[in-house]
Amino acid sequence: MAFLSWHERFSVGHAEIDQQHQRLFELVNHFDDVIQMGMVEELPRIVDDVMHLSEAHFRFEEGLIQDIGFPVVAEHRKIHRELLDQVGHMRSSMMVGGHVSHKAVVRFLADWLTNHILREDMEYKPYLTS
Ligand SMILES: [Fe+2]
Ligand SMILES: [Fe+2]
Repeated sequence: MAFLSWHERFSVGHAEIDQQHQRLFELVNHFDDVIQMGMVEELPRIVDDVMHLSEAHFRFEEGLIQDIGFPVVAEHRKIHRELLDQVGHMRSSMMVGGHVSHKAVVRFLADWLTNHILREDMEYKPYLTS
């Protein structure tokens, strides 16, 4: 069973953003599958993919919320940056070979992503539809 499954409640009402969020869900699910299969040597590359996909999504989202006049873009951007920093640290820890529970990393990503969409991303939803 997929680790994360998409639900209508995650929709911010913008097709491109919803697609980007869905791709991030798929990548987190892939991360979990690879852990289940014991292919741990694949994980740093998947973490890179998570970072690249997140960076591209954040750039798009930050541009969009700026364009629609969302009032707290700087704070939102800061939250995005903090996530990238945290994932970068996790990647470094994975590379030096220890202390990191892969399952904890994938849980962290799943929790971060779902909580961020439901809390912070949802805050710009009314600005999109108005
Ligand atoms: Fe966001
Ligand atoms: Fe987002």
